[in-house]
Amino acid sequence: MKITIVGTGKVGSAIAFAATVNPPASELLLVNRNRDKAEGDAIDLANASAMRNSNMRIRAGDIADSAGSDILIFTASVPYGDPNRKRSELAADNRAILEQWIPPLAKASPDAILLMVSNPVDALTYAALKLSGFPPERVIGTGTLLDSVRYRALLSAELEIHPDDIRAYILGEHGDTQFAAHSVAMTGGERFYPSDTSARLFRKTVNMGYEVSAMKGFTNYGIALATMTIVDSIVYDLRHTMPVSVLIDGFLDVDEVCLSLPAVIGRQGVTRVLHPLLSDEEQAAFRHSADAVKSCIASLGT
Ligand code: 2OP
Repeated sequence: MKITIVGTGKVGSAIAFAATVNPPASELLLVNRNRDKAEGDAIDLANASAMRNSNMRIRAGDIADSAGSDILIFTASVPYGDPNRKRSELAADNRAILEQWIPPLAKASPDAILLMVSNPVDALTYAALKLSGFPPERVIGTGTLLDSVRYRALLSAELEIHPDDIRAYILGEHGDTQFAAHSVAMTGGERFYPSDTSARLFRKTVNMGYEVSAMKGFTNYGIALATMTIVDSIVYDLRHTMPVSVLIDGFLDVDEVCLSLPAVIGRQGVTRVLHPLLSDEEQAAFRHSADAVKSCIASLGT
């Protein structure tokens, strides 16, 4: 199993470290425009790897070296600058990076699964789908997996129930139009706690990316383990169901856009996109998310 991480900034290097701690592959390649950074990370991570029960080969390289990758993890991005900047404001500059990198990466690894992390992740997952020529099941965005984990953690603290037992999903856009759909411990969510609790915690979830970025300048650990959760489900064919950004296949008459719905993830990528039973309010929220991401896509000319 060969994994290539394209972009080893704060997010990409956190993903690389997570992969070093629990190695999912026999080879990890780090690609960065700043080759010295990638080389330095590779040596540093090899040192860390020496303290783990792993023979994973970690090295820096270029697109040619990425040939034959099984998973391509794409995190390259322009800097956020202002932490309050909307993810969608990065769209044009980051799409330019995709235009330069995705076609040759896809040509070098024609059978890879492309895992998009760069923001705005939904619009860029759609752009990557078009630029790579890969089938939809092999182009996945981290989407609202991180948001869902954030929401479950907040509900867990409030309810004193393990996050794994809170079937809470944040769906739609990994951004300001995301919405919550949930049940708790196999009961109807709203019967388990007052709706003002879920509304308060949902608002905290939507703002958490901005809140953390305002304090430390960026977020990287949460997105890194969210990415590795997807990678593990691919590598070990776990068939976990998780909210990730996928090409929407006509659900609620929505198509030609990438958004997060619960998707089953296995060795071949997306094996199924589940269509949840949504309330009228949730259906309207999903369509609102679709409109927001489609507007971003249209602004990119994809
Ligand atoms: C996050 O939500 C910045 O999209 C990233 O942490």
